[in-house]
Amino acid sequence: MCGIVGYIGTKKAVPILLEGLSKLEYRGYDSAGIAVFEDGNISITKDEGRVNHLQDLLNNKPTNANIGIAHTRWATHGKPSEINAHPHADNSKKFSVVHNGIIENYSDIKKFLMDNEYKFLSDTDTEVIPNLISYYYDSTNNLLEAISLACKDFKGSYAIEVICSDCPDRIIVAKKDSPLVIGTSKEGNYIASDIPAVLSHTKDFYLLEDNDIVEVFPSKLNFYNQNLELISRKTEKISWDASSIEKNGFEDFMLKEIYEQPKSIRETIGFKLNKEKIELDNISFTKEFLSNINKIFIIACGTAMHAGLATKLTFENLCKIPVEVDMASEFRYRNPLIDKKTLAIFISQSGETADTIGALKLAKEKGATTIALSNVIGSSITREADIYLYTHAGPEIAVASTKAYTAQVTLLNILALYFAEILEYSDTKLIKELKYELLQLPNKIDDILKNYKEVIPIAKDIYSASDVFFLGRGIDYPVAMEGSLKLKEISYIHSESYAAGELKHGPIALIDNNFPVISIVTDEMLSSKTISNIQEVVSRGAKTIIVTNQDLSKNFDYIIKIPKTHKYLTPILSVIPLQLLAYYISKEKGLDVDKPRNLAKSVTVE
Ligand code: AGP
Ligand code: GLU
Repeated sequence: MCGIVGYIGTKKAVPILLEGLSKLEYRGYDSAGIAVFEDGNISITKDEGRVNHLQDLLNNKPTNANIGIAHTRWATHGKPSEINAHPHADNSKKFSVVHNGIIENYSDIKKFLMDNEYKFLSDTDTEVIPNLISYYYDSTNNLLEAISLACKDFKGSYAIEVICSDCPDRIIVAKKDSPLVIGTSKEGNYIASDIPAVLSHTKDFYLLEDNDIVEVFPSKLNFYNQNLELISRKTEKISWDASSIEKNGFEDFMLKEIYEQPKSIRETIGFKLNKEKIELDNISFTKEFLSNINKIFIIACGTAMHAGLATKLTFENLCKIPVEVDMASEFRYRNPLIDKKTLAIFISQSGETADTIGALKLAKEKGATTIALSNVIGSSITREADIYLYTHAGPEIAVASTKAYTAQVTLLNILALYFAEILEYSDTKLIKELKYELLQLPNKIDDILKNYKEVIPIAKDIYSASDVFFLGRGIDYPVAMEGSLKLKEISYIHSESYAAGELKHGPIALIDNNFPVISIVTDEMLSSKTISNIQEVVSRGAKTIIVTNQDLSKNFDYIIKIPKTHKYLTPILSVIPLQLLAYYISKEKGLDVDKPRNLAKSVTVE
């Protein structure tokens, strides 16, 4: 998820690697490490903490090494710690590897290797990489072949650098679904997750493609495909400015993160749906335990709370247990009715939100079983809860949450399905359908994103509004709340969300000519009712924008069509046009999308 740097050439490696890591710091990370090759030995220095701290450790180990690999880790498997930091070595210490990404089938590979007497020191998925390479190297005695065989076994995403003490003249790199580039110069070759990390050394870059494996020598590169056939790749002269490359070509982190949603959902689902019944790391509930639960609380703040509201229906319908969703800041001071039969789920992207942690502590004290869902490995909330689960959305830099929300809704639906299977929910056809539909989500989001241009004229039309309403009924109501929050956060336009049927009980008094009303209409059973509410605002002159998966008459100002999915999963699709709309309105107003005024990414105060 985070950063990789590598160097091989005539210069000293360590300063180049440290400078590269510093330039990757913007991506967010929790640990850093370096392995260099000197006098036939691989020397590894790594720890939890900042690149400056790594620099201090390296000051005590002067080296003239000309070959090295380096890493900033954003933990996905195993908490931030020295042991879990990269580089990782195999049991024989012959291979040293840094890795960005997730090896989704690591537990199967780990089991296979343990059956073959391999031992593991860390909790990472990454540690299977050097050991599987070592396993294949034992039989092939060929580094490139061992790496290619290992890569063929990996499911998931990886950008890796490998050094081997038997081949001290090269670094081997490989990638799939995680970025990796190689910059070339007379003084050597530079490897990095993105161009700015090494842009001060060269402007000539190879942008690697998926399944590429490259032997990187000081003055030569050999490119192979996964079957080890030689392939050719062209260099590109880079003339872009560094800040746009950090954002992968996107103008802002928020837009980049909106576009990362297919990937983050794919990674959050990972291997969870692959077996007959859902299996989740860290949880093994029994039917007896779950049958005894008589209440589920879902507690969080802001967008994370909207993810809870968007999945209340799934939990209640599949598990037949009443669910109450509440804001952490309210829950903690209202003396909620909690006992040993209560299950309390806490959601937090950062895992550091003070109110959510406070609410979790209270629920624990009162005897509830607590589950934390977070996007940050080892974050406070995961340490505090009885059980933790991770969304794998990758670091979210923009203050306005986008990919974390859709990953949370995905994971909560999976959790509800996991409970339903244990409770032997009778409608197995529905369970199958939901699993199938979960797997279709990334492609459907891609389809919505391809139509982003539909949103731009709407943004241009309404950006100067001073008030906007969002309406939704049933499963669409939490999405209206999320759309409204997104808009106010980054465009500073006053907006409110209402359950569509509530409008006539008061707020409709505010509607007059050209008042923008954005509605979400996805539930076939309820759509005619919501449409009637929309007609009420049309007749009072409102400007109507509808996000829908239904065929509606053209009687409205703008209709944004989204693909159909199961009702429980629609909040993952219907929110995407609303994220884009908020984004383009903010751009139209010339605001700082990623760092809106008065807001912080992680709210660690009450
Ligand atoms: C989302 O766009 C907001 N910035 C905010 O509501 C956020 O979701 C909330 O502060 C909770 O943060 P957490 O998920 O890190 O706990
Ligand atoms: N999955 C790996 C880990 O948790 C790599 C994470 C990263 O890309 O930084 O260690």
